[in-house]
Amino acid sequence: MNGASVAVCNLGIALTSRPILSKVSFEVSPGEILAVIGPSGIGKSTLLRALAGLVSAREGDVSVRNGAERGRIAVVFQEPRLLPWLRVADNVAFVLQGPRQQRKGRASAALASVRLQDSEGAWPRQLSGGMAQRAALARALATAPHLLLLDEPFASVDALTRMELQEYVAALWREHEFTVVLVTHDIDEALYLADRILVLGGDPASVHAELEVPIPRPRSRTNPQMLALREPLLRTLAETLSPPTP
Ligand SMILES: Nc1ncnc2c1ncn2[C@@H]1O[C@H](COP(=O)(O)OP(=O)(O)OP(=O)(O)O)[C@@H](O)[C@H]1O
Ligand SMILES: [Mg+2]
Repeated sequence: MNGASVAVCNLGIALTSRPILSKVSFEVSPGEILAVIGPSGIGKSTLLRALAGLVSAREGDVSVRNGAERGRIAVVFQEPRLLPWLRVADNVAFVLQGPRQQRKGRASAALASVRLQDSEGAWPRQLSGGMAQRAALARALATAPHLLLLDEPFASVDALTRMELQEYVAALWREHEFTVVLVTHDIDEALYLADRILVLGGDPASVHAELEVPIPRPRSRTNPQMLALREPLLRTLAETLSPPTP
């Protein structure tokens, strides 16, 4: 098993005087896919950045472990963030360590796993949005992460490409068994990919609800069980948008 275990305990974050997250607690088991949903501006990206160690906690703590060691973490952001002056393969190799030939080999393997082997020599500007996002996924995978953090990674592509990218994530997850935390606004994406969905709500935000998605894989998008979970999930999400009752 390659997946990290994640434990978030009473996490509180304030980037200014106003707290964004407060008393956020949850765990993610090795190899689990957790989706995080919630209204815009609630603190989902902030939570992901805290998991990646990019912002520090004001209260509580975050631990990402791979057995006795710290787990390796990779992040895919909403936009691909490829370096325009490096060819696709070099963009992937750039984040790796070790001898050049070895880095090139790992970059090629990662690009092949997202079917971009023919674009190794291309410049980022020559890629479509979906291809660029696949390259970003390859760059994350090349580091052999124990925890993959995805922040609305497919938000800017068309519906079909988005489904194709979701298939990639599902297939790569089956192969590598890393743990995934996926931030998304798309409840169908959350239901298709996740084992469990965390709904953030409140100001400052905390875990408003948690929903299990006990559907065997591989999943079909028209699985009636999955469709049945849409309704309670939408209702829960709507609760986070309505003002609290006095
Ligand atoms: N660097 C920062 N400094 C100060 N405040 C910030 C910073 N980054 C984000 N915030 C604030 O933190 C809150 C949560 O932002 P965050 O980006 O985590 O939301 P989000 O849930 O990811 O939203 P979206 O769904 O729109 O991406 C917002 O009120 C935002 O204004
Ligand atoms: Mg965000």
